[in-house]
Amino acid sequence: MCGIIGILGREPVAPAMIEALKRLEYRGYDSAGVATLENGHLTRRRAEGKLRKLEELLERKPLQGQIGIGHTRWATHGRPNETNAHPHATDRVAVVHNGIIENFNELRTELSGRGAKFTTETDTEVIAHLVTDLMNGGLGPIDAVRAALPRLKGAFALAFLFEGENDLLVGARRGSPLAIGHGDGEMMLGSDAIALAPLTSNISYLEDGDFAVLKRGGAQVYDANGNETKRPVLRSGAASFLVEKGNFRHFMAKEIHEQPEVVGHTLSAYIDFATERVQLPELPFDFAKLDRIAISACGTAYYAGLIGKYWFERFARLPVEVDIASELRYREAPFTPGNLAIFVSQSGETADTLATLRHAKEHGQHVLSIVNVATSTIARESELVMPTLAGPEIGVASTKAFTCQLAVLACLAIAAGRARGTLTEEDEGNLVRALIEVPRHMSEALALEPEIERLARDIAKNRDVLYLGRGTSYPLALEGALKLKEISYIHAEGYAGGELKHGPIALIDATIPVIVIAPYDRVFEKTVSNMQEVAAREGRIILITDPRGAREATIESVAILTLPDMPPSVTPLVYALPVQLLAYHTAVIMGTDVDQPRNLAKSVTVE
Ligand code: G6P
Repeated sequence: MCGIIGILGREPVAPAMIEALKRLEYRGYDSAGVATLENGHLTRRRAEGKLRKLEELLERKPLQGQIGIGHTRWATHGRPNETNAHPHATDRVAVVHNGIIENFNELRTELSGRGAKFTTETDTEVIAHLVTDLMNGGLGPIDAVRAALPRLKGAFALAFLFEGENDLLVGARRGSPLAIGHGDGEMMLGSDAIALAPLTSNISYLEDGDFAVLKRGGAQVYDANGNETKRPVLRSGAASFLVEKGNFRHFMAKEIHEQPEVVGHTLSAYIDFATERVQLPELPFDFAKLDRIAISACGTAYYAGLIGKYWFERFARLPVEVDIASELRYREAPFTPGNLAIFVSQSGETADTLATLRHAKEHGQHVLSIVNVATSTIARESELVMPTLAGPEIGVASTKAFTCQLAVLACLAIAAGRARGTLTEEDEGNLVRALIEVPRHMSEALALEPEIERLARDIAKNRDVLYLGRGTSYPLALEGALKLKEISYIHAEGYAGGELKHGPIALIDATIPVIVIAPYDRVFEKTVSNMQEVAAREGRIILITDPRGAREATIESVAILTLPDMPPSVTPLVYALPVQLLAYHTAVIMGTDVDQPRNLAKSVTVE
């Protein structure tokens, strides 16, 4: 994983590299480093911890080089300390890397045998030594990188800087994303357009297997077969300003509160409010001819996919399989050509989701993606993209992207129902009207924040928390547990209400809060029975429901959060908000790093 930057500039590049790395911190933030040429000599500054440590180091010991590479790291091989921080270097070359070199051990043994001295625990260091070895054998820098790449197994985006080469950066990509920025007498490499936005909005995206040679005057790109090629220069719409927190203490809080607006915005892209009909872009497949849909994603996006399954099956009577992307890819699932595979991803760069997309394509599936970053690799490789219009999501724990993903999935499922004749016009009108009301209900849900904050004080005292739900509230229970554990580090599990008695009930005693997500719907009575089972064992229940559910859940020792009445089809979109707020306030009380929790990254670009 990690974010990389490279700049061939006309003035000292360290400040611009730091600015770019700030924009890449979503890819990792356990250590960072830069290398420049100081009077032609490779010079590095690296620091363990957040980027501000590197910034402080550069204030104390500035760099003046007008060419440089930089990196923000999420550790895969080797602890997150200064030694293992990138760039990795020999006396001839420095390299930054995003990805994993799978055969690093084998290469390390071979290169050590020829005298290379390794000083880190990383897989990346072999790349620096391999290129150096080839240069020592007589190759120039460009040819040395060209010869090294076929020897690397695994995934990578790389940027190289060479001793004494003041007008040369080399980049390469296989698996991990890499873009070229075209400035005025300046050239750049970066993991994405957002990192390059303050420097240029002229961007070309390298394709898999590409190799690029950058000089201040321009770039030459070679494809996987070594043939010179051109990658189009596009105008990037990535914002050149850093997204601010406004009056909020954390990005996560801001993003939770933005949901009424961004979900409304997303819905307006797929709904014709005047006719109360779903209006999608032209589809390259016919829902009526599909016999199955496969949805794949990771993390929170996977839970959005699970909720989508309930909707497709109910509205369109279409069987749906939902897989964690890393599982679908390797479990040899049979595909019938011509069916539909849907990929859900905030970043559009998640390595497992992307690899599964390619796998589905190879098996003749139509590929539709629901992504938030419209310029991402997943978006670019999809047959059809349905963007979520959540805007940049900075908090590592996904919130507004999740509800926007749900909004798109709901619209798709309604369109599928219409195309398959399983929804009448009247059904569609009812479902669409319910969606149109969602932003209003979300605002009402946000008004419960003071109450939620009080409940969070109790949650924060515990080591374990259980979430229960049935129907679409079950995936939401999974999402609630994920939110809580990722930002507060309290162990939490989500369960389908009916599964309680098959194991988790053994955990229940007076020390475990049980958060029950249960709007008054056709399975509410069943959930009440589950709550009785918890209450009988002294479990403490927090029930998230609506006015009718609050009246009918006649159980003692229940704290109730009452949301407005709404049709069951849209409850997951609205109930997500108190679930997110509960996790958020618990984490704030615990004093954790809410926006950048330990060990996590916003975009996971390694398998
Ligand atoms: C990481 C993030 C999660 C996200 C998941 C999938 O684990 O921390 O918030 O849900 O990746 O990411 P994607 O960008 O594909 O939605």
